[in-house]
Amino acid sequence: MRVLIAFNAPQASLDPHGRGTLAYQGVLTEVEDVAWALRRLGHTVDILAVGLDPRGELARLSQAHVDLVFNLVESIGGKDYSETCFAAILQWLDLPFTGAGPEALALTCNKNIAHGILTAHGIPTPRSWTGWDVPDPVEFPLIIKPACEDGSIGIDGSSVVHDWQQLKKGLRGDQELIVQEYLPGEEATIALMGHEQPQFLLMGRIDYGGMPSGHLPILSYRAKWVPTSPEYLGSTPYWDDELLEEDKPLREAARRVFHLFRLQGYSRVDFRADPKGIPTSSTSTPTPT
Ligand SMILES: Nc1ncnc2c1ncn2[C@@H]1O[C@H](COP(=O)(O)OP(=O)(O)OP(=O)(O)O)[C@@H](O)[C@H]1O
Ligand SMILES: [Mg+2]
Repeated sequence: MRVLIAFNAPQASLDPHGRGTLAYQGVLTEVEDVAWALRRLGHTVDILAVGLDPRGELARLSQAHVDLVFNLVESIGGKDYSETCFAAILQWLDLPFTGAGPEALALTCNKNIAHGILTAHGIPTPRSWTGWDVPDPVEFPLIIKPACEDGSIGIDGSSVVHDWQQLKKGLRGDQELIVQEYLPGEEATIALMGHEQPQFLLMGRIDYGGMPSGHLPILSYRAKWVPTSPEYLGSTPYWDDELLEEDKPLREAARRVFHLFRLQGYSRVDFRADPKGIPTSSTSTPTPT
């Protein structure tokens, strides 16, 4: 089979403040790993670094004689919904591609929209607000996250706020945000693969036991991407397949999220436990991270 791996090349010019450089560069490792695995399986691999000009990409894709696109394209140049547009173009061109389709990407890449859908379908999710609609009184702590980022871009220790003064400070700026009740419990991520009947691949957990005092147990940007930071060194991911086997309600919640958002191919659903220990779906991420 001839497979085209499409990804969006990280460009320093598109991230002038370096907020997400390490996260964006992560895709380069993914491209290498996927290319290696495909070649090992005997497939022919082409690679397409997708840029900012949709006309050029459309021309290149129209001329690409490939059987399948392995789609690693995420937000192109930080443009909202660009991964949705790219998947829609592939669909429109009748090019078979891996991973979520445009519908799923549109529904999940904005955390406020995803939260509304989870709530409407009775799937436990932290109480959330879009910003200034946080009720008074409200129970602190809360966590403030960019609504349309992933890879923990924009999440650090100061994202968790403990009073109104900190909340008001965190709400400044013009980026769309989501404010959520802070869930203090355990964290899990479930990976699913397939279509109508997805298989459970793995359950990842985080051991926050090594977090230095003063650092909250959250996977901030530094905890995910900066290997020398205390947050990274203090948070250890591990696989917990036994729990995945045992915890039927958690698996059932992940399966419902998979179908609800029309995910396909491969996906990940993240959970945190609430104060009573009940796992709550914090986000759903159909992107191949
Ligand atoms: N409501 C919450 N309560 C407590 N911690 C949270 C909450 N929401 C997020 N976090 C922490 O912040 C981390 C990143 O949050 P989230 O997964 O929502 O962001 P993301 O940028 O979409 O990351 P990714 O796409 O890599 O999953 C989580 O792994 C978790 O540790
Ligand atoms: Mg997450």
